[in-house]
Amino acid sequence: MAIFGAHVLVACIVACAGLLWLRSRSSSKEMRDIPGTMGWPVIGETFSFISDFSSPAGILSFMRDRQKRFGKVFKTYVLGRITVFMTGREAAKILLSGKDGVVSLNLFYTGKQVLGPTSLLTTNGEEHKKLRRLIGEPLSIDALKKHFDFINELAVQTLETWLGRRVLVLEEASSFTLKVIANMLVSLEPEGEEQEKFRANFKVISSSFASLPLKVPGTAFHRGLKARNRMYAMLDSVISRRREGGEVRGDFLQTLLRKHAGDDADKLTDAQLKDNILTLLVAGHDTTTAGLTWLVKFLGENPEVLEKLREEHLQIRERLNGTSHLGWSDVNNMPYTNKVMNETLRRATILPWFSRKAAQDFSIDGYDIKKGTSVNLDVVSIHHDPAVFADPGRFHPDRFDVSLVSGRQIS
Ligand SMILES: *[C@@H]1O[C@H](CO)[C@@H](O)[C@H](O)[C@H]1NC(C)=O
Ligand SMILES: *[C@@H]1O[C@H](CO)[C@@H](O)[C@H](O)[C@H]1NC(C)=O
Repeated sequence: MAIFGAHVLVACIVACAGLLWLRSRSSSKEMRDIPGTMGWPVIGETFSFISDFSSPAGILSFMRDRQKRFGKVFKTYVLGRITVFMTGREAAKILLSGKDGVVSLNLFYTGKQVLGPTSLLTTNGEEHKKLRRLIGEPLSIDALKKHFDFINELAVQTLETWLGRRVLVLEEASSFTLKVIANMLVSLEPEGEEQEKFRANFKVISSSFASLPLKVPGTAFHRGLKARNRMYAMLDSVISRRREGGEVRGDFLQTLLRKHAGDDADKLTDAQLKDNILTLLVAGHDTTTAGLTWLVKFLGENPEVLEKLREEHLQIRERLNGTSHLGWSDVNNMPYTNKVMNETLRRATILPWFSRKAAQDFSIDGYDIKKGTSVNLDVVSIHHDPAVFADPGRFHPDRFDVSLVSGRQIS
């Protein structure tokens, strides 16, 4: 029975994929003019995409190869849909500014299901704009300043536990980042049982994103949805304590509740609050964790950079005389550190491509893009364009001096 079920399931998946592929082949007639190959039936170019993605060079080789053959705009068929990749200044402007509603966000089905229907990442148009405004305000620099001492102390504490011990940096960075974000959003204490439960649920949710969307017990997707429900139950009790006025904190949730207390149009429902707290957790955690981990790797590989970084920080310590704590103004006065961070983000390219969906027909570089197409900005090629960043494979923070002066950094 189980074997029979599995066969039926596989047959259904293959049939669905086949239909999708045929459908996209016919719609691709409209985009015949865009160069590129669709690869094998059903799977398209998914295998080379995934194998390049997991290789040390990352997605860059997939892009390079096709850009050489087809140019800056090309089409392919990966992960079950026809996909257009584009790179360069004009593409970045159109796809990232989203001006005139040319493109909308493009999230996979699993992501949509896990983050919920009212997340900033799953809404479009006017609703998206409203959420962005409401949610953006409490995330300003001023809000960050309020949390600075907490972040600084936690960083020092965390690094002290590293002394004389082998650590798994990714794990350390993840746990640190989650503590910071959960504290900023809902004042979760960095230690204790609540934090442990929160982290356990978060990990399950996180790993469900890249899973097949089968709502069947035992699958990563199913476990993710259940963990999401447990996390929402925790948030429900926090939100109701706040709404009843029994608890007042200086965090993101409090700002949202207070700010829109009297204004019906701007009031966020509990569902919206929860979906967007989870969205910020996921978005902030994954990117920051990756950034910190790459930073440590690059510093390990480049001792001369580490030495200069140490010098800058030893000087700050001297200036502080060993008495006073690091302050906000000190953070804004770390020129070398700033370059190291920028170079880390360039070299690692935490988000190698941005996925959008054409919300209307538009043209770019002389090619017509049809409404509904998945259009993607290939960022990794911009960050590794030798015309913009000389010797792009090298980790070289001082390049930011030169490029800032010549103004070639933005291209
Ligand atoms: C730093 O310490 C020295 C000696 O302890 C003291 O004379 C000086 O005033 C201190 N400076 C600051 C900025 O606290
Ligand atoms: C680092 O990047 C930020 C954001 O793009 C920019 O504002 C800043 O000037 C950069 N710093 C340096 C030293 O280039």
